[in-house]
Amino acid sequence: MKITTDFLVIGTGIAGLTYALKVADQGTVSLVTKRDIDISATQLAQGGIATVFSAEDSFAEHAEDTMVAGAFLPNREIVDLVVESGPQAVRDLIDWGVAFSRKKDEDQYDLTREGGHSHRRILHAKDATGREIERALVEEALKHPNITLYQHHIAVDLITEAKVRQQPMTPNRCLGAYILDKKNNEVLAFGAKFTVLATGGAGKVYLYTCNPDIATGDGVAIGWRAGADVANMEFMQFHPTTLYHPHAKSFLISEAVRGEGAILKRADGYAFMADYHPLKDLAPRDIVARAIDSEMKKSGDDSVFLDITHKGADFIKDHFPMIYETCLGFGIDMTREPIPVVPATHYLCGGLKADRDGETNIQNLFAIGEVACTGLHGANRLASNSLLEGVVFAKRAAELSLSRLNKDLPPNPPIKPWDCGNATDSDEEVIVAHNWDEIRRCMWNYVGIVRSDKRLQRAMNRIEMIQKEIDEYYWDFLLTSDLIELRNITTVARLIVESALSRHESRGLHYTIDYPNTDDENFLHDTIIPGAPFQAS
Ligand code: SIN
Repeated sequence: MKITTDFLVIGTGIAGLTYALKVADQGTVSLVTKRDIDISATQLAQGGIATVFSAEDSFAEHAEDTMVAGAFLPNREIVDLVVESGPQAVRDLIDWGVAFSRKKDEDQYDLTREGGHSHRRILHAKDATGREIERALVEEALKHPNITLYQHHIAVDLITEAKVRQQPMTPNRCLGAYILDKKNNEVLAFGAKFTVLATGGAGKVYLYTCNPDIATGDGVAIGWRAGADVANMEFMQFHPTTLYHPHAKSFLISEAVRGEGAILKRADGYAFMADYHPLKDLAPRDIVARAIDSEMKKSGDDSVFLDITHKGADFIKDHFPMIYETCLGFGIDMTREPIPVVPATHYLCGGLKADRDGETNIQNLFAIGEVACTGLHGANRLASNSLLEGVVFAKRAAELSLSRLNKDLPPNPPIKPWDCGNATDSDEEVIVAHNWDEIRRCMWNYVGIVRSDKRLQRAMNRIEMIQKEIDEYYWDFLLTSDLIELRNITTVARLIVESALSRHESRGLHYTIDYPNTDDENFLHDTIIPGAPFQAS
């Protein structure tokens, strides 16, 4: 079946929803998501959205904090653009009905703090900011008559002009995407004037992650396969503090807990962060995660501990009601005892290379939110800059799309329906499950917080073998969501390892024992992997 739309938006987190809402008055929007509309990384975001919202703060300081956290790799022009667009982006969210927490008895927003920030500048909705943002945006999107929602639909591949004409093209142009309707097992061809990848991150490439299950790097993988360049894939951020509990599935303990005074301690009670950084518990995230990793390796303990008991039960329950309740559900009362925590993957700082309007090197293909590498985060994202980036680039991408929509666009060539060839139902689902597990373990063990050339090479060898297996059976079997995701996490794993192997220095989130120093002379630049070369089918 073929569906024609003006705007095809894949992903329903803050970036996808913002884009959809910004363009919907001017054309038809197909909004596609793998599961239910509100299953996204945005929904799980706890901390908040960073912006300059107080008289004591300044754009220059927010920009400087972003540069320092990013180990001076962020693109300063992009940093300034995002920081200066911040207050208006937040006001847009407020206009759509997002209720950020206010100070008690005051007509002012409560600003909290997280690691790497020199000021209180994080707007939040208690400790469930993402849930509140998602609620408000979903409500708006569902009301809009021009937005058609496709839940339980997963993108398979992009449709480009080169593919349709069966010849390489520069620039190439995106014409839509093939999308699997998971319930009806049918691949639909969506033809679109503008295609937007807002598919989020790739935490599921690793064994332990606080990301939702949907974070399988789909946008990066399908964009790269279609020829879009990727950048900085070696910079996978590990959140320092996720709950250590066998049943907690790496539940995040927000950095705002440290922002409000929590202290990291070893099992013997020693507060170790002063040994690693002058900002102690509020050092940038890469430094805190490495410090925890090092303390756990030295002591052989399974976790470290986050202690906020000194703030008192009323304060804790008022500021962190969701974290308090969740920990209590696992038998941990954070008002009386420290929380056992470990690092887990949290945020992909690299992604599809996108320009200042969120467009990739494929015309009319936009990448916004975590799937993109815009130049804002550099080698390590400053806490709470990601929701901000999502809104700012969604708005810019929407503005550029609308300006083109109203001009004469060259007509799209006709696109073909999906051809499944001789594919049959697979009776080997176990291979998919096994390969999933193998990739994720391999990435966790060999491409983690501390790396070496030997470990990275070992990971590359394993991934190449799995990739070969997948390539062999991918076209033999009818597509399932698991198979599509497996192909994507394998592609993304490979891009991460390839990028890591090429950076012969340590910077931000990429730390390798073979090159422990930062080398500005040779490596103060992005790591670019060009999109996959065109292949005739
Ligand atoms: C957190 O609440 O610690 C996460 C905030 C972020 O990653 O930006």
